[in-house]
Amino acid sequence: MVFYPELLKFNDGSDVGCTKCWSRRREEILEILQREEYGYVPKLPETVRGEILSGQDPEDVRCCSGHAELLRLRISFDAEKGPFSFPMHLFRPEGKEKAPLILLLNFRPDVYDKYYPAEEIIDHGFALGVIYYEDVTKDNGDMADGLAGLYERRNDGTDWGKLAMWGFAARCAMSYLETLPFIDRENVALAGHSRLGKAALLASAMDGRFKFTISNDSGCCGAAYERGKHPGGETVADITRVFPFWFCGNMKKYAGRPEEMPFDQHFLLSLIAPGYLLVGSASGDLWADPVSEEDSCRAVTPVWKLYGKEGYLGGDGPCETNGSFDAGTIAYHKRDGIHFLGRQDWLRYMDFMEKHLDRP
Ligand code: GCU
Repeated sequence: MVFYPELLKFNDGSDVGCTKCWSRRREEILEILQREEYGYVPKLPETVRGEILSGQDPEDVRCCSGHAELLRLRISFDAEKGPFSFPMHLFRPEGKEKAPLILLLNFRPDVYDKYYPAEEIIDHGFALGVIYYEDVTKDNGDMADGLAGLYERRNDGTDWGKLAMWGFAARCAMSYLETLPFIDRENVALAGHSRLGKAALLASAMDGRFKFTISNDSGCCGAAYERGKHPGGETVADITRVFPFWFCGNMKKYAGRPEEMPFDQHFLLSLIAPGYLLVGSASGDLWADPVSEEDSCRAVTPVWKLYGKEGYLGGDGPCETNGSFDAGTIAYHKRDGIHFLGRQDWLRYMDFMEKHLDRP
């Protein structure tokens, strides 16, 4: 029998039975996750500036069969030790006064990348913002690189790791994007695949501005429970051996001993309540452990219920390959095939979001 730390009990063992109590419990959970897993995340900068670098000549920026403009942006802010800026791209549907936005933390710098079907996203009426994650800080242990070098480190096991930094940058971008008159700030999704799905979950857990959170194949330290891993599933020992710099130093303590963690990944997902949570897996992606990803969705449902929302309506599961359960506030699907953020995933995510967009 696997024991999972309880969501709806305070650290002192007393019950959490209403949303007011939950907001206090939320703080406890956020503290545990930062101290033990991802590291402490600095406060967002008060001012974030943005510049549109292209767009003067409409012919330069028209794309997607002429249905969109592709804008190059630069996002800037003052970090603790000095100024920081990074580039990003924004596909803006033409002729829409206000478009819902999907903000994607992406793996590759390529514009028109294999991880996002830009034209299809535009045809569904969404704007698409894309941040190439290594423009924020490199995916390695260099804690002097980019954003990483601009915050003091305490070296006490609780300094933030790279997942937290990529997520933080997405939140900074949001501070600018939400000021753009053609962006519908009430209908923004934060999305990421795999390690960037982990980063997206964390960022959204700390920031109430994302109505939708998309975790695609995020697996270990993302949507998947760490305890009770299924055969082939990545463990805390695996991930902290190869990618220790994604986390705070304390996380290493739990390599090979997940049962000692004062949290599990349902803690992370729970912080997204009462927002819409979209979790996608691939049947051939055993490393990310689809069954554990789905089980976490089930486990957090009581938190959504506190808010009078359905949470996950997936029954006892597991979801079949190419099946989905998306009648509730939490949507889950399992596509056939390998670890990837593909067109089928995008279609499922957009279909779900379209049902829940606030339209004027
Ligand atoms: C590795 C890592 C995973 C991660 C994946 C990715 O496989 O072990 O945890 O999700 O890379 O980001 O593609």
